[in-house]
Formats: sequence, structure tokens, C-alpha cells
Amino acid sequence: MAWKIVGGAAALLSILLGGLAVATNGEPDRSATLAEYRRPSAIPFPDDNPFRTAKAELGRALFFEPVLSRDGERTCATCHVPGRDWTDTHPRAPRSDGGVMEFRTPTLLNVAWTETIYGWDGKFNGLETVARTPLTAPGNMNMPPEEMVRRLSSDPNYVAAFAKAFPGPVPEGGQVTQERIERALATFQRLIISGQAPFDRWVEGDAHAVGAAAKRGFDLFNGKANCAACHSGWNFTDGSFHDVGVAKDGAIGRGRFFPNSTRLRHAFKTPTLRNVARRPPYMHDGSLTTLSEVIDLYDRGGIERPSRSRDIRPLHLSAREKADLIAFMESLSDAGAEGPAYQPIGVEAPRP
Ligand code: HEC
Ligand code: HEC
Repeated sequence: MAWKIVGGAAALLSILLGGLAVATNGEPDRSATLAEYRRPSAIPFPDDNPFRTAKAELGRALFFEPVLSRDGERTCATCHVPGRDWTDTHPRAPRSDGGVMEFRTPTLLNVAWTETIYGWDGKFNGLETVARTPLTAPGNMNMPPEEMVRRLSSDPNYVAAFAKAFPGPVPEGGQVTQERIERALATFQRLIISGQAPFDRWVEGDAHAVGAAAKRGFDLFNGKANCAACHSGWNFTDGSFHDVGVAKDGAIGRGRFFPNSTRLRHAFKTPTLRNVARRPPYMHDGSLTTLSEVIDLYDRGGIERPSRSRDIRPLHLSAREKADLIAFMESLSDAGAEGPAYQPIGVEAPRP
């Protein structure tokens, strides 16, 4: 009989506490909001470029292959540096002629979860199509496609690796094709995934994984500061384009492709916030050097203009609230060079 009374009392207590949204330890009940940030359990691979270990291994070799640049000086990893969270430290990516490109190098962390449209302004349609631009651009790897295919085809190791990665009929012209190079690179990049951060352990139920400041920061992020309106889900991005009031210099972002849209003028893609504390500078143009400057921008509400997102407005944050938001973003960093993102190959099967 006694157990029934205890059970009934516990149920009543949880109804009462649930109604007040307060957990037994006196903290707000964040379980529903935290659940929105749970990590996925599998990597999405497209049907027309499915995962194969041999393809990913070939992609890894190509990613670090200087032969793919005309003068042998550059690889994908020149800018997407594994030890720098797959970006670099430059405000704007360096051109081979000493100048700089239009944009900062974005991190490649979690690119598998980007829905189709890549690039700060969305100029790339699909991960498979991105590589063509850095490979062939004169200010970058500057490699004519035929020359690239010719170079790899003259290396028997590569010919064998392409055959293993792409079983089936040999294409006209041989095992090495530009399309296969692009597919292998994409398969490799889908394995670049940020590792478990303290925040993930909190999501999974370890209340001590992050400190009190980070927890308050999480509440602000999802509440008063409204960051989650765009930095949503486990990868902290809605994959969409917004003007948060950064670009001053006529950079029109997504507006380039939608000249009649007011909203897309100065709109750039929402970046992931995974490992963000470790990879300054920030924004599409690298114009902000610390997270503190980023918070100050949002606190001011950025540049007020017709294109600015309706989700951006002056926040009037206190000094403590600003520090709490930064503490929260710091809790999104994984273990660094020890984490899975840095050895994305050698796995027998894809894992989250
Ligand atoms: C000179 C530095 C540099 C090199 C070398 C380079 N990239 Fe990039 N990468 C960039 C920049 C800058 C962007 C942003 C371009 C844009 O948004 O228009 C970018 C964007 C990307 C993106 C889109 C990411 C996203 O989240 O939208 C992918 C994928 C990518 N690069 C892969 C590669 C691959 C594969 C190679 C090698 C074939 C490569 N990059 C070589 C600088 C570089
Ligand atoms: C309206 C959508 C939106 C809201 C709301 C928003 N962001 Fe952003 N965030 C973006 C976009 C878009 C960018 C890239 C802007 C650019 O490069 O011009 C960005 C960039 C960032 C960056 C730089 C990341 C990098 O790799 O360069 C950080 C950090 C950041 N936001 C944190 C926050 C925080 C904290 C909040 C809440 C105070 C917030 N964001 C609110 C859309 C948003």
C-alpha cells in the first residue's frame, strides 16, 4: 500500500513542479528547449553520392593534394586548416597574387547538414559543386580541369584509388574524371563533424557539464537575446540568409542573386556556432575580432536599414548578460585536435 501513496505523491509533485516549470533542484526546467539541440545519430549522405570508405579515403588524399594546384603551392587545407577548425585566421581568404578574396574562409565543420545551398551568399548549389570554384579560380588553385585529370591519371596509385572508390563501368576517358574528384572530396568533407562539447553532455543530462554562466547564457540565447531565431538546432544554424547589420562596404550578399528583394540585400548565411570561440575573426568579412565585439554588434542591433532582419533589434544587455552569452558559446567547443573532426577518415562506417 505504501508504494502507492509514495507514487501518487511523486506524481502530484511533478505535476505541480511541471506547472511551475521548475525542476527539483531549483533551476528552470529547460528540458524541452535542450531537446531541440540533441545531436543527430547519423550523417546524411545524398542518394546520388552515397558513402563508401574508399571514396572518403580518396577524398581525403585529394583534399591535401598540392598536385591539384597549378603551381603545386596550394591545397584545400591551405585555407580549410584541420588544426584551425577547418578555417584559417585571415579576415578574408588570401589570393595567390597577394591580394584577398571577397570573403573569409568558412569552417567546414558539419557541412553534411547544410541543406543544398553553400557559400556566404549561397552561390554554390550542392556540396559536390563547390570544389570546382577553388580548384579552377585564377586567384586560387588555378587548375584547368583537363590538366587536373591528366596529372592524376598519370599516377597509377590514384588510378587504382579511383577504381576502388567508384566501382562499376569505367568512364570514357579513364578512371579519373572531374565529377569523380568532386564526389570524393564531398564524401570526405561530410565526415568533418564537430565533436562532443560540454554543451552536448548537458543536453544529454549531465547537469554539471557546464557552469551557471553558460546556463544563463543559454536562457538568453533562447529568450531575451533571440539568437536561436537563426542559430537553431544542434548545428546552431537555420541554413538561411539574413542581414544582421554587419556589411558596410556595399557587400550585398544573397541580394546579388535576388536584386529585387529588400530582405536579401546584405543577407549572408547563418554560420554554425560550433567551436566558434576558437576560430576568430568573425563574420563573412572577418570584420569582428572577438566574441565580445560580436555581442556588442547584436546589442546595438547592427546597422539599421530596410534589409535588416526583423529578428535583430537593440537588446540592452547588461555586462553580466553579455558575459553569460559568451560563456554559453564557449561551452560549444569540442576537445580540439583530439576530436573526431580532426581524424575524419579511417572510420569503417559513418558515425555522428
Ligand atoms: C584560398 C583559400 C581557400 C582554398 C584554397 C579553398 N577554399 Fe573553400 N572556401 C574559401 C572561401 C573564402 C569560401 C567562401 C566562398 C563564398 O562564400 O563565396 C570557401 C567556401 C567553401 C565551402 C562552402 C562552405 C559553406 O559552409 O558554405 C566548401 C564546401 C569549400 N570551400 C571546400 C573547399 C574545397 C573542397 C577546397 C579544395 C578543392 C577548397 N575549399 C579550397 C577559401 C578557400
Ligand atoms: C536574424 C538572424 C540572426 C540572429 C537573430 C542572430 N544571428 Fe548570429 N549570425 C547570423 C548571420 C546571418 C551571421 C553572419 C553575418 C555576416 O557574416 O554578415 C551571424 C554570425 C554570428 C557569429 C559569427 C560566427 C562566425 O563564424 O563568423 C556569431 C558568434 C553569432 N552570429 C552569434 C549570435 C548571437 C550570440 C546572437 C544573439 C545575440 C545571434 N548571433 C543572433 C544570423 C543571426
